[in-house]
Amino acid sequence: MKHLLKLQDLSKEEITSILNMADQLKYEKKHGIEHKRLAGKSLGMIFQKSSTRTRVSFEVGMYELGGQALFLSSNDLQIGRGEPVEDTARVLSRYLDGIMIRTYKQEEVEKLAEYGSIPIINGLTDYCHPCQVLADLMTIREYKGAIKGNKLTYIGDGNNMANSLIVGGIKMGMKVSVACPKGYEPDADIMKWAAENGEFECTEDILKAAKDADVLYTDVWASMGQEAEAAQRKEIFVKYQINDEVMAVAKKDAMVQHCLPAHRGEEITAKVFEEHADEIFDEAENRLHVQKAVLVKCMG
Ligand code: CP
Ligand code: NVA
Repeated sequence: MKHLLKLQDLSKEEITSILNMADQLKYEKKHGIEHKRLAGKSLGMIFQKSSTRTRVSFEVGMYELGGQALFLSSNDLQIGRGEPVEDTARVLSRYLDGIMIRTYKQEEVEKLAEYGSIPIINGLTDYCHPCQVLADLMTIREYKGAIKGNKLTYIGDGNNMANSLIVGGIKMGMKVSVACPKGYEPDADIMKWAAENGEFECTEDILKAAKDADVLYTDVWASMGQEAEAAQRKEIFVKYQINDEVMAVAKKDAMVQHCLPAHRGEEITAKVFEEHADEIFDEAENRLHVQKAVLVKCMG
């Protein structure tokens, strides 16, 4: 695997292989088995947006793999003063062994890969969040024993998380349903692809979407970069919440996933969040193991 730009670029076999490697690395960490598969390698981490999980999991992940990670805030890089991404890519390719980037436009990530000569990993754009969904799939497999055949329901904004969950879920043989307000649907091309390649539904009806779900997923109503719309979105999304009513129509053993950060009382009630906290924090932990697997696959 050269890059991780978006899940569309990966086959089902490649995704499974990343998840298997993540399970292996989790096992090695838990049992104190040394796994310095990237000794002497350097990862640059460009952040144009905030991050807790992505930054820490990549940084600790590189350390545990025997390499190092450099935190490169766009406030400090020349990229923040207008140096073109094409030039940044070619310069950093001469120092580093890989780049993780979190930014706004997906095109910027694709351009970095086009102009650079080292692996590029997408740590979130407005369009998608592939690393998160790999951790979600790993967690679903841990809890359910398998991914295929489970029904995944996403409730809320048709954002980067929704886009990647649809692609990852359908590729791995899940049934995927999305409930979102009119005008806030996921990417149209992704929805078309999903309908052609699996069982997919997008509706405004939350209870219809959540019926018999095995996995319920939600994310914030206003993503990074949408702060100015937050108040308006609170009104539009008010019903799009995982709560007891939604849990009641899902399967009895349904699990709940949230990429975090969570806004209790908005996209999820505090009660449901706490009742499913183990699943949600296992999901957050799995970011570390999956990130390490992606790093080994791309840079090993
Ligand atoms: N879920 C996720 O990507 O979290 P951060 O924004 O904290 O990295
Ligand atoms: N949709 C959220 C995900 C954060 C991990 C955002 O882009 O802010």
